[in-house]
Amino acid sequence: MLDKLNEIEKAALESLSAVNDEAALEAWRVANIGRSSAVMNVFSQMGGLSKEERPLVGQRANQVKLAIENAFAERAELVKSAALARSLEQDQLDITLPGRPVRRGGLHPATMTLRRILDILAEMGFQVYTSRDVETDEMNFQALNFPPHHPAREMQDSFYIETEGREENPLLLRTHTSPGQVRAMREFSAANPENPPSIRIALPGMCYRYEQITARSEVQFYQVEGLAVGENITYGDLKGMLADFARRMFGPQAKIRFRASYFPFTEPSAEVDVECFVCGGKGCAVCKNSGWLEILGCGMVHPTVLQNGGYDPRRYTGFAFGMGPQRQTMLLHRMNDIRYFWGNDVRFLEQF
Ligand code: DAH
Repeated sequence: MLDKLNEIEKAALESLSAVNDEAALEAWRVANIGRSSAVMNVFSQMGGLSKEERPLVGQRANQVKLAIENAFAERAELVKSAALARSLEQDQLDITLPGRPVRRGGLHPATMTLRRILDILAEMGFQVYTSRDVETDEMNFQALNFPPHHPAREMQDSFYIETEGREENPLLLRTHTSPGQVRAMREFSAANPENPPSIRIALPGMCYRYEQITARSEVQFYQVEGLAVGENITYGDLKGMLADFARRMFGPQAKIRFRASYFPFTEPSAEVDVECFVCGGKGCAVCKNSGWLEILGCGMVHPTVLQNGGYDPRRYTGFAFGMGPQRQTMLLHRMNDIRYFWGNDVRFLEQF
């Protein structure tokens, strides 16, 4: 039995030196230390040995088994590192190859103008206040001094969302950013009803009107509203502020003029034109030979609107204005069709 163990050890170690890859290594392991290997067979035959032989054979069998296992571990290490060296040698990866270019998106032209307007207004002390897209009739019209059957209300055909059960105050998509004026005033005055704080905010947002889509009108468009409320705010402040805005937006030469107009929520009201920056005021196709481009509506906040916002009109005054960033984008880039904005044509969008 002892001779047999010596032979088993010798044969195993000899055959191991020919093992050179993972598959051969595994096959060798099964054959030489697996459950039905020669050493394991010796262990299972121990029962048939005499009392004197048994400890000797047992001790030797353990030695042989250990020797075979150690030799296996050593060889496995060798085979693995050889495999790694081979793969490093053969499967080369060129990490200096340039990557494939990733196409970068850009900001939408309407967003770019919107942000530029908000940047300029921020420099002038106007903080952004965002209001909701879904409004009530009360906020969109009534609180802004549009009486229920006022003809001005027909200026704006609206997308109504919910009318049933709320005939007096239906839900609709806001037709302008002006209702945000009242929401802001109510929020600030509610915090301090005796002494409401002065306000200087810009209200950007999407507006919606139920209209035929043409080159000149869309069903959705951005507006930026401005509101300043305080003690001693005058029409002179409004004029100076907007003249400054125009110079920052259109260049230091920009001139503006005020035309008397009408809005229910301001009194007096005006529309503001900027001198045509294409022809310098001489008259061209962009300004339709008038020399002027209309850019916004504005006025002194109507006393009723101040009251509706919780600001006492005997103590407070304010001015407001509303402009369309997309109209300004169209003028600046000589766009002749408003439908390009939401048409999602990359050939248009890529140009900005
Ligand atoms: N809300 C008006 C519109 O959508 C624009 C406007 C005009 C806003 C005068 C104002 C304003 O704040 O004072 O046509």
